[in-house]
Amino acid sequence: MVELSKLMLYLEIMFNPDHIKKNFTIFRHFPELIFVDNASTTQKPQVVIEAIKESYEKYNANIHRAVYDLGIHADENFKNTKKAILQYYNLEQLNYEIVFTAGTTDGINKIARGLEQEISEGDNIVVSEMEHHSNFLPWQELCIRRNATLRIIPITDSGELDLTCIDELIDDKTKIVSIVHISNTLGTINDIQKISKSAKNVSAHFFIDAAQSAALYKDSFANINATAIVFSGHKIFGPSGIGVIIGKSSFFSDLYPFNYGGGMVLEANKNMSIYKKDISKHEAGTPPLAQIAGLLETFHYLSAIDHKAAQNHLKQLAKIFRAKMNGLGIKCMGSPKEFSGIVSVDFGTIHPHDVATYLNSKNIAVRAGHHCTQLIMKKYDIPASVRFSFSIYNTEKDVEQIIQAIHEMRKYFA
Ligand SMILES: Cc1ncc(COP(=O)(O)O)c(C=O)c1O
Repeated sequence: MVELSKLMLYLEIMFNPDHIKKNFTIFRHFPELIFVDNASTTQKPQVVIEAIKESYEKYNANIHRAVYDLGIHADENFKNTKKAILQYYNLEQLNYEIVFTAGTTDGINKIARGLEQEISEGDNIVVSEMEHHSNFLPWQELCIRRNATLRIIPITDSGELDLTCIDELIDDKTKIVSIVHISNTLGTINDIQKISKSAKNVSAHFFIDAAQSAALYKDSFANINATAIVFSGHKIFGPSGIGVIIGKSSFFSDLYPFNYGGGMVLEANKNMSIYKKDISKHEAGTPPLAQIAGLLETFHYLSAIDHKAAQNHLKQLAKIFRAKMNGLGIKCMGSPKEFSGIVSVDFGTIHPHDVATYLNSKNIAVRAGHHCTQLIMKKYDIPASVRFSFSIYNTEKDVEQIIQAIHEMRKYFA
């Protein structure tokens, strides 16, 4: 339950980035900080940090095996967190269940391992050229292990998925389609509904890498009928070390266990053991208890945010940033029609790390590199870019300061 004091705090969170910023302790420690590396990880609201601290101080006990009050509380917290997540995405009536993981990467790897037996020689798996390595390498490796083919939906020069070829790529030999919802490099919002339909037409599993969309695009999943949606806690203002697979109950019950150990076995025998049938067959070992407490608070926090206003805000910041960069004669990568608050820039002769280092000297935190999307870098024929990823606590003033710093930087490197 949300305490009254927290509730009052939440009520203050009408969509105003300056107010929202006050919820995030880091900006009290570093008032000058302009943090625009949110695609990498987001900052944490104080309520989430306190929930984690409180879980160690007041509620520490393991789930499943205790009959004492603290253990019962831990069990309730485990169940309530799952419930709050399903409610947040309006998925609780649609036969979905939840398995906690260590993050998006861990979740996708686990699914790929669990599906190993379903893939045979001649089958294919479809991903896109826009994938983060976490939604590319596990499928590529699975194809190599099973003599299957990896098919890749190409990206256009504008940084969108070229869906004109989708019905050729997804055919009756397609067993899995796994697509990033929002590109962590280009900010493109992909048409997951359309791709999902093509996947479902051939009865393929459809997975969504929602690492960049799970926080603020909560209405995107209920009408998609995805097999599973995967994301990380630390990118949605929540704790690190925890991730979520929201999957269809039927998918989880058919899926071969991907981890073995305590809690998932019905009967351990010397020769061969028998595993549980329910969701706990995918929950071997102790889950990340404090992170689960933090994640529950994260979803309380997210529920109080006007997510449509937040989406518009990120889009608006990206739009203003792109326009001002254009004004400076600097080209941003791609020009997708549907986009979020992520923009990557190729600064030409100025090395991305020099840009990031210069901006750091002005208290601006950005990321330089390939952002674990080397296929995108290859498409644009550059080794790396500088990525500006905005969040709910960034303001138009932040954008102005960034543009001013870039302007000065160009003089400095001229
Ligand atoms: C789109 C996307 N997918 C997957 C990941 C991997 O997430 P994690 O490192 O939390 O496992 C990221 C991280 O940047 C991402 O942006």
